Amino acid sequence: MSYELGPDGRTPNVQEGRRMNIESPGMPYNFADLEPAMSRDTLVFHLLRHQRVCFDRMSAMLRGSELEELSLEDVIRVTERNPAQHTLYRYAAEVWNHNLFWRSMRPRGGGAPGGLVAEHIRTRFGTYERFVREFKEAASSHFGSGWLWLVWRAGGLEIVTTSNAGTPLVRGDTALLGLDLWEHAYYLDHQNRRSAYVSAFLDELVNWEHANRTLAELGSSPEPRVVRPRVAIEAERQIIL
Ligand SMILES: [Fe+2]
Repeated sequence: MSYELGPDGRTPNVQEGRRMNIESPGMPYNFADLEPAMSRDTLVFHLLRHQRVCFDRMSAMLRGSELEELSLEDVIRVTERNPAQHTLYRYAAEVWNHNLFWRSMRPRGGGAPGGLVAEHIRTRFGTYERFVREFKEAASSHFGSGWLWLVWRAGGLEIVTTSNAGTPLVRGDTALLGLDLWEHAYYLDHQNRRSAYVSAFLDELVNWEHANRTLAELGSSPEPRVVRPRVAIEAERQIIL
């Protein structure tokens, strides 16, 4: 991959005829819409000081390269395979992870789900209460920064975590919900109390409709959405953003 500098000697050169296909990140609601469960300040800082920074750094590395016209998902899949491209991989993965995180919440969300996801929770966990217990335990036992996911794997639900910028997109899983476990996601509202943040997510924010929509799409798709084998999980865990 080449990163030629433009005329000013600092920013990457933009080659004519190539355009990025990745949109600048935004949220599907206004900054104050998740209050009081998640404050406006938390969402402002999170989008502008974290996700947009990752997007800007990713964009600077993509412009003028042979990867410039790829989708965000394909940038992640291609760069994850090459350790020399892992700086770009972790910025792209963080953009994708946050895009799903915003959609995993909604104003006046939370509580027990209905629909397909409720059926699969009963199948996998027995009761919603047991799912909540395991979800909270996975969040509290995860060491350091990372993500907590509810994924569809081999025909059933699983709760998994990834470290740092790790993403289920490269594990062969389909992510139904994602919860940011980086401290920047909850420190302003809960200081270091991760468990209070996870409770607020489950009780007041979680967007089960998004999980149900993804499950419905998966059911109507003739091909698995993700075909990568689970190869590089340990390598992902070594990446520090
Ligand atoms: Fe974050």
